Amino acid sequence: MSNLNINIGELQLKNPVMTASGTFGYGLEYADFVNLEDIGAIIVKGTTLYHREGNDYPRMAETPSGMLNCVGLQNKGVEYFCNNIYPQIKDIGTNVIVNVSGSSPEDYAACAEQINGLDRIPAIELNISCPNVKDGGMAFGVTRKGAASVVKAVRAKYHKTLIVKLSPNVTDITDIAKAVEDEGADSVSLINTLMGMAIDIERRRPLLSIKTGGLSGPAIKPVAVRMVWQVAKAVRIPVIGLGGIMNAKDAIEFFMAGASAIQIGTANFIDPAISVKVRDGINKWLDEHKISSLTEIIGAVE
Ligand SMILES: Cc1cc2nc3c(=O)[nH]c(=O)nc-3n(C[C@H](O)[C@H](O)[C@H](O)COP(=O)(O)O)c2cc1C
Repeated sequence: MSNLNINIGELQLKNPVMTASGTFGYGLEYADFVNLEDIGAIIVKGTTLYHREGNDYPRMAETPSGMLNCVGLQNKGVEYFCNNIYPQIKDIGTNVIVNVSGSSPEDYAACAEQINGLDRIPAIELNISCPNVKDGGMAFGVTRKGAASVVKAVRAKYHKTLIVKLSPNVTDITDIAKAVEDEGADSVSLINTLMGMAIDIERRRPLLSIKTGGLSGPAIKPVAVRMVWQVAKAVRIPVIGLGGIMNAKDAIEFFMAGASAIQIGTANFIDPAISVKVRDGINKWLDEHKISSLTEIIGAVE
């Protein structure tokens, strides 16, 4: 058995496989299908300061080698999370990370501050793909200034491991990655979904209620691998790679591109036990190649 231990900031992972936010509920929903303790970390649904209804239906559409979604961060708000969900998930036996979203830097910071008080949550992941309501609705994650403003506000209130999840809908993702590193992020995760659209030609209407949505799944993997490779060379903090990972070989591509850990999203909808199968597949591949530690292949492609 190879050594799969990896540290991200102060977060200690027994293996580098995480489940991606919005695709694995709060973890408990999957407990009948997979031993949750075998997963390196579970990143739970996007949480906001206040309750959000999400967008109208339809919110999902299948596309070739991928899917579009516009769920719109449906959740009951951070207070509900702390009082009702946290007590159920705090003893899961692996790292549970909360994905945090907001419409202003102050929102993000207030949400993060409440989670900072939860002993059994060792890290948060900031989703900076949300529209900045004060600044015309442009997503925070698409400008250096917007991304930096969120991380700065959160860093002042949140004292544990801070992961910032980057949007791929930008011209130069390394620029945003460097900005969040400068503000004190411990790690970056990438990529979030790519903006997409699909049309029902008979009804002459978009398939999604709000017309456009986020594309995920195998269709986005080459874009994600390229961005992970670029970002890993541009920053000193560890990079977490995701986007279209369906099996262990996909995960190994991300490690070679420079990722220290990976996340699995859309694949959970096809096989709820995929995260542990990917962990086992990584182990098998490393054994077959006589590699004793995962760290030996991280960034192998220059
Ligand atoms: C239905 C759905 C809901 C999602 N919700 C969130 C979310 O709340 N916060 C977030 O940061 N990313 C969210 N994502 C993005 C995923 O976490 C992931 O970044 C993306 O799907 C790419 O990975 P994949 O190709 O493995 O799915 C969501 C994705 C899907 C498909």
